[in-house]
Amino acid sequence: MRYSDDLVEEVRSRNDIVDVISGYVKLTRRGSNYFGLCPFHSEKSPSFSVTPSKQMYYCFGCGAGGNVFTFLMEYENCSFPEALKTLAGRAGISLPEQEYSEEERRRADAKSRILEMNKLAAKYYYYLLRTSQGRTAYEYLKKRGLDDDTIKKFGLGYSSKYSDGLYRYLRKQGFSDGQLRESGLVTMDEKHGVYDKLWNRVMFPIMDAGSRVIGFGGRVMGDGKPKYLNSPETEAFDKSRNLYGLHLARLSRKGHFILCEGYMDVIALHQAGFSEAVASLGTALTARQALLVKRYVSKVLLCYDSDEAGRKAALRAIPILKEAGISARVIDMRPWKDPDEFIKNEGAEAFQERIDGAQNSFLYELWTLEDSYDLADPEGKTAFQNACAMRLLQFEEELERENYMQAVSERYQIPYESLKRRVQELGNQGYVPKEAQEAGKKAERERTAREREDGMRNSQRLLLTWLVEIPGLYGQVRSYLSWKDFTEPMCRECARQLFEQLEEGQANPARIVSSFESQEEQKEAAALFNKSPGELPSKEALEKAVLETLLKVLGSSLDLRAKEADTSDIGAFQEIIRARQELQKLEKLHISID
Ligand code: UTP
Ligand code: MN
Repeated sequence: MRYSDDLVEEVRSRNDIVDVISGYVKLTRRGSNYFGLCPFHSEKSPSFSVTPSKQMYYCFGCGAGGNVFTFLMEYENCSFPEALKTLAGRAGISLPEQEYSEEERRRADAKSRILEMNKLAAKYYYYLLRTSQGRTAYEYLKKRGLDDDTIKKFGLGYSSKYSDGLYRYLRKQGFSDGQLRESGLVTMDEKHGVYDKLWNRVMFPIMDAGSRVIGFGGRVMGDGKPKYLNSPETEAFDKSRNLYGLHLARLSRKGHFILCEGYMDVIALHQAGFSEAVASLGTALTARQALLVKRYVSKVLLCYDSDEAGRKAALRAIPILKEAGISARVIDMRPWKDPDEFIKNEGAEAFQERIDGAQNSFLYELWTLEDSYDLADPEGKTAFQNACAMRLLQFEEELERENYMQAVSERYQIPYESLKRRVQELGNQGYVPKEAQEAGKKAERERTAREREDGMRNSQRLLLTWLVEIPGLYGQVRSYLSWKDFTEPMCRECARQLFEQLEEGQANPARIVSSFESQEEQKEAAALFNKSPGELPSKEALEKAVLETLLKVLGSSLDLRAKEADTSDIGAFQEIIRARQELQKLEKLHISID
């Protein structure tokens, strides 16, 4: 992609961010900013802010942020060129056609062509389900308890019993063999000729958060194998980054998601009123998916199958969710196999009760441990209690540990004092399970390094924010501070552009945001200009904070220069010493803010 910067800027500046976002979110004015409920995570009080002077938005709750382009990309789940096109249209600006590089154009074209073919395929399958050819499939879905509304809502269909029905249909729509091969929907080889990847199956279109069909799952009707086949990954379909049902669950506003294993589970739950259900796409939960979930909610109820495999999958999912900042609870489906069977046998109300009684993930882990011990035998029981005590050591905060000890002592009828003593003993012996120990040390090292880095990045972000927000600050610091003092790569690029703008007289952070191509980068850039230090008590306090931050940024920039300097280069060395002396003098600098 590459539209000229000026064109991008024109489109951006002709779409006022308050106008655009008001079309999606109810905004209320407060002072010079607007506030509303964040559309990117679930919340009850507004922490989503839109700042007209910066032409940017930022959510203090979930960290989402950016300019009008970022907003559209995130909200509509579309690419930068798509957002640009929409906003250009909105402002009545016509875009020139040929500004892509060959390769980018090919990829963008391929992706939108695949999406187009997927859409047509979904329509074709949907149509076939209602013809006499699709009768068995329709009856199969009915037999599984789905009503017409549900079939429609999920766009379920049937792939023809002829193994090249889709191929012929899409050819008729004007797609070439090469294009069809790219879609992953058909296979061509010399020996067998051309055939559809999925045929004579009930079809489940898989949609992304923006309701675009990105791939398909197909199920045999009955007991054939393999039970499900999924269409392969393509330019448009990445299984590790999407979740089945997300396009509906994201609108459910229940404050949590129910994460289950299968397509049928999601569908049965939605039909029963649990529109917050999603599932991964036939693979174990990935970190990417956890982050995707975190955009909308920070609580997940795991509702995996009650067999051994489901239990293991839940145990693997818990730390992945935790890592993404999501708290997990586990719903017990026994005696039924999965939520689909549960609902069919016990109904929605009983399921709601299971939701209310969902187990805390730690207690769930202990519960799965029970099976490996003979609790009727004193020896087995002691060993189990020791195992519990060891695991309780993972809670470093005293209060949290207390709460868990209490819960464990109640559940397993271990006298609280004895359990506490055992935990303390193990703790005093420095006992940490061996793997945890290694992991602990590594984590500790990583944590200090990360904290130092975070601190540095924070100072750089703060300074960037202030340079935009405090009029006249740049003039006071420009002789000491260069954009090269921003050592963190993202900060450095933003600083470079910002300094250029400030030299010309006017900060324009929203323009800087759109100079980045990916949504991730735009979000990161937006965050740099929205580092809220919180209200400072007075002008003097702010002046002092600005100076301290400036010194920190200059200091760490010097440290880095010293570290990277060529030890044999005496000149460079002396230069660094001189700079350090200068920096000391700066401590007396007075920064004044009006
Ligand atoms: P399940 O077998 O639990 O699926 O597999 P389900 O949705 O409950 O299916 P029904 O109720 O028997 O119709 C969970 C998920 O694992 C993937 C699919 O994504 C499925 O939804 N899977 C399963 C496959 O990809 N291939 C298979 O052969 C089986
Ligand atoms: Mn099932």
